[in-house]
Amino acid sequence: MSRRIVVIGSQWGDEGKGKIADMLTGRARHVVRFQGGHNAGHTLVIDGKTTVLRLIPSGILHAGTTSHIGNGVVVSPAALAEERAELEASGVPVSERLRISSACALILPSHVALDGARESGIRQRTLGTTGRGIGPAYEDKVARRGLRIADLFNAQRLGERLESLLDYHNFVLTQYHHLEPVDFEQTRDQLLEHASDIEPLTGDVTDALRHACLADESILFEGAQGALLDVDHGTYPYVTSSNTVAGGASTGTGVGPTYIDSVIGVVKAYTTRVGGGPFPTELDDEFGRYLAENGDEFGAVTGRPRRCGWFDAAALRRSAFNNSLSGLCITKLDVLDGLDTIRVCVGYRVDGHSLDFAPAGADLLARCQPVYEDLPGWHHNTSGVREFEQLPRNAQRYLNRISELVDTPIDIVSTGADRTDAIVLRDPFG
Ligand code: GDP
Ligand code: IMO
Ligand code: MG
Repeated sequence: MSRRIVVIGSQWGDEGKGKIADMLTGRARHVVRFQGGHNAGHTLVIDGKTTVLRLIPSGILHAGTTSHIGNGVVVSPAALAEERAELEASGVPVSERLRISSACALILPSHVALDGARESGIRQRTLGTTGRGIGPAYEDKVARRGLRIADLFNAQRLGERLESLLDYHNFVLTQYHHLEPVDFEQTRDQLLEHASDIEPLTGDVTDALRHACLADESILFEGAQGALLDVDHGTYPYVTSSNTVAGGASTGTGVGPTYIDSVIGVVKAYTTRVGGGPFPTELDDEFGRYLAENGDEFGAVTGRPRRCGWFDAAALRRSAFNNSLSGLCITKLDVLDGLDTIRVCVGYRVDGHSLDFAPAGADLLARCQPVYEDLPGWHHNTSGVREFEQLPRNAQRYLNRISELVDTPIDIVSTGADRTDAIVLRDPFG
């Protein structure tokens, strides 16, 4: 039976979505990214070889699977060319496997300049973005002045639309930020250079997925970032600029919600966050350093150290509802090996009240104090374990307690970075 499954991050990103999407892609005929851009960094480890994907879906390493970039993704033609060249250099036939929606909004060099200007501007709040131009590109999309992939293929129209957009960007860059303008002709020529490589891959991704549904083929929708970074439901304003929740899979591909069968929430066995914003269970002590070191917690895109903390069930309850999670995929369990006690945040105290459901937005969450439950740890090595029964008793208890606290069953437990390091309790593809 074919299935259409959404795989999303349920925390603040870097949960291991890439690994899980790649692992499950063996069972899907199509994989589609539906939001975000090259702010994502999805790491795949196959037989010890590491590949980091930013814009291209994590299905690309599978022959026989078509990888699609859906309309909800913001595409930098330069970043796409770079990633494609890297993959082709290691023997992946990208042009045979990749399709791009003509409706994707473009990220231009001026968006990157604006992102950087805001992040370093003294009059603005610093969010700690990835500096890839994501926010400014989505702003232009919503303001209906942005360029789309389809605009690349008509030189005259591209020139006209780009000139008018750059007029506006350059006004803001020079007059508001007191920075240098971005050159129109250079930008246009670079875009035209990339256009000929992109055109053969471009089409109506929604129609391709409609045909997949008609032919009863399985589709995996690959999320980027995490639900707590969603522009509506996350820790605003410390969020990314897209809808990272599962609903984004519909708007970002054109496949309506009832075509989707289930949603897998990828979640670390602890919590990490890169960039600014509230993080109630953050640890600034030896345990935080233990998680950072054991988990090798450095950003796959920017190399920034990730902030680390305990698992937060109150935050995950919100994610479980926002995404209608059918099952959990708990990753990086092995990172907790060797701890005497593991803490789990079961709720918060704020202004004399108890909360068991994380509030949306940054302001109230920043004042929430975690309430912890302590669980016994384990000293065995769980790396690469593939059977639930072979996990130490306390690791089994820990996993079951998480599932109970968020009232969601566990589909998969990941016990290492490699594609094969996993325990499959319920196969999402049935
Ligand atoms: P994504 O953005 O959600 O795809 O996650 P990232 O790739 O940014 O970060 C996850 C990191 O953890 C990568 O370095 C993965 O190779 C690694 N990883 C994934 N699953 C596991 C696991 O179960 N155990 C360990 N130790 N590492 C893992
Ligand atoms: P993956 O898909 C973790 C964070 C940034 C910053 C905020 C806004 O690998 O999980 P942006 O550049 O999107 O405007 O930055 O969002 N962020 C991520 N954090 N993983 C990601 O992607 C992220 N993409 C963006 O650090 O706090
Ligand atoms: Mg990542």
